[in-house]
Amino acid sequence: MKTARYEKHGPAPEVFILDHVETPQPGAGQVRVKIEFSGINPTDVKSRAGAVASVINEFQIPHHDGAGVIDAVGDGVSPERIGERVWLILAAKGSRYGTAAEYCIVDSDFARLLPTSVSFELGATLGVPAVTAAYCLFSDGPIEGQSVLVTGGAGAVGRCAIELAKWGGARVYTTVSSESKTEVARAAGADVVVNYLTDDPVSALSNEGIARVIDVNLSMNLDMNIAIAKPSMKIISYAADGPDPVLPRRALMTAGITIEFMLLYTVNPEKFAESVRLTEEALAAGALTAPPTRIFPLSEIACAHELVEGKSAERILLKI
Ligand SMILES: NC(=O)c1ccc[n+]([C@@H]2O[C@H](COP(=O)([O-])OP(=O)(O)OC[C@H]3O[C@@H](n4cnc5c(N)ncnc54)[C@H](OP(=O)(O)O)[C@@H]3O)[C@@H](O)[C@H]2O)c1
Repeated sequence: MKTARYEKHGPAPEVFILDHVETPQPGAGQVRVKIEFSGINPTDVKSRAGAVASVINEFQIPHHDGAGVIDAVGDGVSPERIGERVWLILAAKGSRYGTAAEYCIVDSDFARLLPTSVSFELGATLGVPAVTAAYCLFSDGPIEGQSVLVTGGAGAVGRCAIELAKWGGARVYTTVSSESKTEVARAAGADVVVNYLTDDPVSALSNEGIARVIDVNLSMNLDMNIAIAKPSMKIISYAADGPDPVLPRRALMTAGITIEFMLLYTVNPEKFAESVRLTEEALAAGALTAPPTRIFPLSEIACAHELVEGKSAERILLKI
């Protein structure tokens, strides 16, 4: 099968190899998926660069996210799944067969039904961002009637968090850094969008009773979060770019804030499964919509990775 793969970590233009490897056969409990689109996330780019710990087993076909059609199943999986349109979750976790190839193999549970009304393009943008957002929002239970703040609401995770929080019945506040990102966050359904570079987020958010913050940059946002806190406010921090925050313990104690740090790879398995289930439910209800997207052929994977590294405001997909 046609693939993009790497055998060592390094800069995208230096390490990607475009060629063929033997098409893998699904093992017990697995399905094989003919990939239509492969979605790229910051975690894929960091793994390829060697910026986070990841082991290469001879070669690595990158990317967790993707969408396509099941074309073969392993022992223990119903043959009725063959022909099913699916979106994928964490395809490259512990596997060298990510989605940047004609075929991918994953555990059957990690290939989720894509409703016929949902495009493969949207399906390939869901896995990492939507499941992360679902965990951040719902891991302590329903949020109906709560006020939720999503920082960086035009980002991949942030935008999914806005859509899922609205679906979950919350009032949604978000912060963004530009006019174009304001439009993206509004289109996703945010009730209140604050441009933190031109407006004062503390005065905009202080009296809104924010109960939960889905946070992309704790170093930058911690002072604001403390200033707007109501007792029992919870911050879920899911990103670790840039400098580590300094935690002002007295101010956090006084404000009554709880902070949880989450990583999709290591969250509690039951909560992970519940986050996947809720994402699937929201998708079936039409609550998750296609983000602004830019599509490249597989042969331009290095350029696509560089765009993700450059923090593109669009989601970057590969058409396989
Ligand atoms: N813990 C997990 O399991 C998990 C899962 C998914 C993603 N992540 C991490 O979460 C981060 C965001 O992922 P994403 O896919 O949503 O990325 P993205 O699409 O690039 O969005 C990031 C958004 O965060 C905001 N931001 C604030 N401070 C930033 C900074 N210092 N650098 C870059 N963006 C900043 C930006 O919005 P403004 O310009 O409006 O502020 C941007 O729109 C990445 O570090 C990623 O690795 C972690």
